[in-house]
Amino acid sequence: MAQLWGGRFTKETDKLVYRFNASISFDQKFFSQDIEGSIAHVIMLAKQGILTNQEKDAILKGLVEIRKDVEEGRLAITEEYEDIHSFVEANLIERIGDAGKKLHTGRSRNDQVAVDMRLHTRLEVLYVNELLKELLCTLLHIMEENIDTYMPGFTHLQKAQPVTLAHHVGAYFEMFKRDRSRLEDIYRRMNYCPLGAGALAGTTYPLDRNYTASILGFEGPTLNSMDSVSDRDYVIEFLSALSTIMMHLSRFCEEIIIWNSDEYRFVEIDDAYSTGSSIMPQKKNPDIAELVRGKTGRVYGALMSILTTMKGIPLAYNKDMQEDKELTFDAIDTVKGCLALFEGMVRTMKFRKDRMEKSAMKGFTNATDAADYLVGRGVPFRDAHGIIGRLVLYCIDKQCGIEDLSIEELKKISPVFEADVYEAVSLKTCVEKRLTLGAPGFNVMREVIGMHKEYLSKGWKHENEMFKDVTLIDDING
Ligand code: ARG
Repeated sequence: MAQLWGGRFTKETDKLVYRFNASISFDQKFFSQDIEGSIAHVIMLAKQGILTNQEKDAILKGLVEIRKDVEEGRLAITEEYEDIHSFVEANLIERIGDAGKKLHTGRSRNDQVAVDMRLHTRLEVLYVNELLKELLCTLLHIMEENIDTYMPGFTHLQKAQPVTLAHHVGAYFEMFKRDRSRLEDIYRRMNYCPLGAGALAGTTYPLDRNYTASILGFEGPTLNSMDSVSDRDYVIEFLSALSTIMMHLSRFCEEIIIWNSDEYRFVEIDDAYSTGSSIMPQKKNPDIAELVRGKTGRVYGALMSILTTMKGIPLAYNKDMQEDKELTFDAIDTVKGCLALFEGMVRTMKFRKDRMEKSAMKGFTNATDAADYLVGRGVPFRDAHGIIGRLVLYCIDKQCGIEDLSIEELKKISPVFEADVYEAVSLKTCVEKRLTLGAPGFNVMREVIGMHKEYLSKGWKHENEMFKDVTLIDDING
């Protein structure tokens, strides 16, 4: 059992207590961020004259070597250490002796873990953003290919008005676009450095917090040391954004599952993204879509967990906060996996344009347009609504669509109908005439697709900073 404390204790920690308390099994996830934070801290300590240059060089060399040895498999992170911070410090002291004991000068594990978690989360925000961007590119491609692929639009899962596949997919484009902007907000708000806050009340050493913040690519240092060590808002915000992403993915998956059913057959999921049944040979199941839908609960769970953990914690750091990690890591991995798989599934999915169009023709999706036709000929909308209602009843009885009736039959219900009504209620006209911005009409759809292209070409302000953290170590290596 290797731990950083023990001076004031008279008994050894009970093994079970030790294991219950330890976090190395999961905080090793941010091993490289822990090294990075230490490197920044040590460079700053030397600049401030708190460490000599020789001490700084020895520590940096030791840290870089530890990182290399772990990465290349020569040094294993084992459970004999309490946490990743102890692992690094113990190994450093073993390698370079007394200078290693100065690494923790002016620092506490409270601000150390706060900076590690922030660095790690910040990087994950960027990864998730990249995956969202890839998904948006795929969706935009589907939209461009399907500007005139007619399908029924639904309300209450009942056919309502005709739309196009481009329009339907475009709704999800908007959702995932908002998800990206949420990530950008979070990134901006969380990008302040807690290092130097100490245990809770800063330190008596003349640390330069602006300097460490800038080395680590933060906008600046945080401004209250108690808040710095006990703020996990960014974890909550990130989990909330991840939950929203999952909610969007899950809704889309639900539709794909419906569309893939034998009753609809709007889509065919590629063999690579479906699975069979062990008993029913005819089956090809949409398991990936179902799993993504199912895993949504797991990500919501992580959000609920951290919200509940944080609600009763007095200032400043309390050990409860160690619970911010496992479920968060799990949620991040889950969302990244789901985004990548979902993107592959929709990219390879076949859309049955014939089936969609056929379905759009049935179910009186042109009833509103038939009413609008009468309005165009002077009938007040409320009366037109009543006339078409009666027309629909007549059609249900005859088991046909409005467009299947003869002009005589139509005129019997309202003399206002003329031969041009057939053109007016055709699928093409129904869609084409929906020309307000945001509607499925071909021209406005093209306009919106143009805006999306422009949006995707611009990129995201922080995208270039993606591998900044790694560069810091490489600089020192070089
Ligand atoms: N493992 C701890 C965590 O994850 C690190 C901070 C420990 N600080 C302390 N005072 N015990 O929160």
